[in-house]
Amino acid sequence: MKQFTSVHDAGNLEALVAEALQLKANVNACAESGKGKTVGLLFLNPSLRTRMSTQRAAYNLGMNVMVVDLDKDSWQIEFEDGATMNSTKSEHIKEAAGVISQYCDIVGIRCFPGLVSRDKDYSEHVLNSFLKYCSKPLISLESATRHPLQSFADIITIAETKTTPKPKVVLTWAPHIKALPQAVPNSFAEWAVASGAEVVITQPEGYELHPDFTQGAKIEYNQDAALQGADYVYVKNWSSYRNYGDTPKVKGNWMLTSERLNQTNKAKIMHCLPLRRNVVLPDEIVDCSNSLIQQQAGNRVVAAQTVLKRMLETL
Ligand code: CP
Repeated sequence: MKQFTSVHDAGNLEALVAEALQLKANVNACAESGKGKTVGLLFLNPSLRTRMSTQRAAYNLGMNVMVVDLDKDSWQIEFEDGATMNSTKSEHIKEAAGVISQYCDIVGIRCFPGLVSRDKDYSEHVLNSFLKYCSKPLISLESATRHPLQSFADIITIAETKTTPKPKVVLTWAPHIKALPQAVPNSFAEWAVASGAEVVITQPEGYELHPDFTQGAKIEYNQDAALQGADYVYVKNWSSYRNYGDTPKVKGNWMLTSERLNQTNKAKIMHCLPLRRNVVLPDEIVDCSNSLIQQQAGNRVVAAQTVLKRMLETL
């Protein structure tokens, strides 16, 4: 594996998930495979889970880890070709990526969208600059449009808990106090469809995701109708794709309640975290016995470990 930026880089998904579950059963099975190798984890945005789980995954493989908060610990990076660098950005991606490639055997980059220019964000100009100028295998630690390590962990979580071969998985929009990226729902929709689940996405008018990411999923604007018989309910807020980065006014209350969940097939509850309690989901649902939220976060380690292991095999 030379890059991991979306489900399209996963190859045979069933085999990748099986490998992850095998690794989870024996996390130290490949404890020497990364000996002498270094992964560099570069963050342009905050992170708790991605940062710590990928570090832990690398340690489980015997790797060295370097973590850098780009723009804070190092120089601000210019990504535009031909830019006259007479302002705050001191280093061009061409030099930075060349240098990082000499220090690291595998590179991970987190780069959120600006939520101002849809074209710029959906062109993935930051991620693609790293792919272009970095000569080492590259992992997306969440980009403008996707969060593949999160989605892989989510699919591992579904694989180890499902009681039917084709579970009904409902991705529901939830309220929030500010505009959030579409990366997690875009990515989860792609991975869930690829995993063979029956996928239903429910959202208010104006919050439709880019159709490229939702192919194979059913779109249902009525949340109650969507929840009928669901085996899994994945809860997430996102901002508008159509009115890019806006948060159009929503009719009705989209926060899940225990009463609404009664319509499901005792659905398991998922969320990628971080989560604002009693804004996105009420305490009673976050803390209920059907919540898989902690299990998902735990599986971030095995997801990252599987990807790093696959990359180490190609070095
Ligand atoms: N879910 C997730 O990616 O969490 P962090 O932003 O804390 O890494």
